[in-house]
Amino acid sequence: MKILGLSAGTKNGSNDAMCKEALMGAQEMGAEIEFIRLLDLDIKHCTGCIACVKALMSGRGNLCALKDDFNWLLDKMLDADGIVVADPIFEKGAAGIFRTITDRFGPRMDRGNNIIAGKIAEATGGKAPDPRILKDKVISYMAIGGSDWGTRVQCDHAMQALTPMWKVIDNECFQWSKSIIMEDEKLARAREIGRNIAEAAKDIENAQYKGEEGVCPHCHSRNFFLSNDSTHAICCLCGIEGDIVIEDGKTKFVFPEEQLGHAHDTLPGKFIHGDDIKENEGKLAELQKTQEYKDRVQKYKEFIQPLMPEK
Ligand SMILES: Cc1cc2nc3c(=O)[nH]c(=O)nc-3n(C[C@H](O)[C@H](O)[C@H](O)COP(=O)(O)O)c2cc1C
Repeated sequence: MKILGLSAGTKNGSNDAMCKEALMGAQEMGAEIEFIRLLDLDIKHCTGCIACVKALMSGRGNLCALKDDFNWLLDKMLDADGIVVADPIFEKGAAGIFRTITDRFGPRMDRGNNIIAGKIAEATGGKAPDPRILKDKVISYMAIGGSDWGTRVQCDHAMQALTPMWKVIDNECFQWSKSIIMEDEKLARAREIGRNIAEAAKDIENAQYKGEEGVCPHCHSRNFFLSNDSTHAICCLCGIEGDIVIEDGKTKFVFPEEQLGHAHDTLPGKFIHGDDIKENEGKLAELQKTQEYKDRVQKYKEFIQPLMPEK
């Protein structure tokens, strides 16, 4: 069983150390381990070109137009049974490199899109996506911050797992942790997270979330988009819509059962979202054929040219 450690921190800093501590825990449980420092790689930002969606939906397999180290990283991630990520908290959320990886997963690694792409490829004799994309996997996240600013980071992290529908085992946030390698309790927690991910990777089908309960009973998120004239709330992670109520002095998120069928981390939810996007893209494709659309594009193109630094 393979466990891959990813660190998004500075070389030999707190995140590298915490990631390695977790890998030590995984190794204790018999895992074969590998370690990658994300900032050592050449990872470009997603440009939004949607070449990946076009390829998937036309039976041309799973690809990305960008040429960099992402495919190498993806191959390592797909090869592992479990992954543990250590990521520095930046501006209360995930670091930019982690967000970029989440974007690069985006539609390309969406489980729903890959299931549909497999069927299209079968029907057309095209190229099916890499079968490892549809394999279950477990993942844990450790956010490491130097202050008490960290209210978005666990949501950012779990969002990455939502796309391929990987199971989150731990999703921990370590605040005030600049000197974390001197804090034995936090190191012990990292080692436990490593043991947990290795244990989960041995039996992925029955693996369970081991982190804090959170507020959303479906995805454990604590982040909500709140209405200012009712109790209506949308879970920022799984997208379930319901109400925030106070019961026995505690905040509770309640929602109708049918909302579960819309959750972004379920296949029915993904297919609904996919159909909505398809309809919208279809409308755009029709509009793009019209002269008025072309004239409007031209107007903005001609109005001003973007500045570039002199080389
Ligand atoms: C640009 C920047 C933004 C940061 N924002 C936060 C923050 O919002 N919350 C927090 O707890 N720490 C914040 N920090 C502290 C980092 O999380 C901390 O320095 C990092 O975890 C150190 O990891 P390393 O030793 O592995 O590089 C920030 C640091 C930088 C450089």
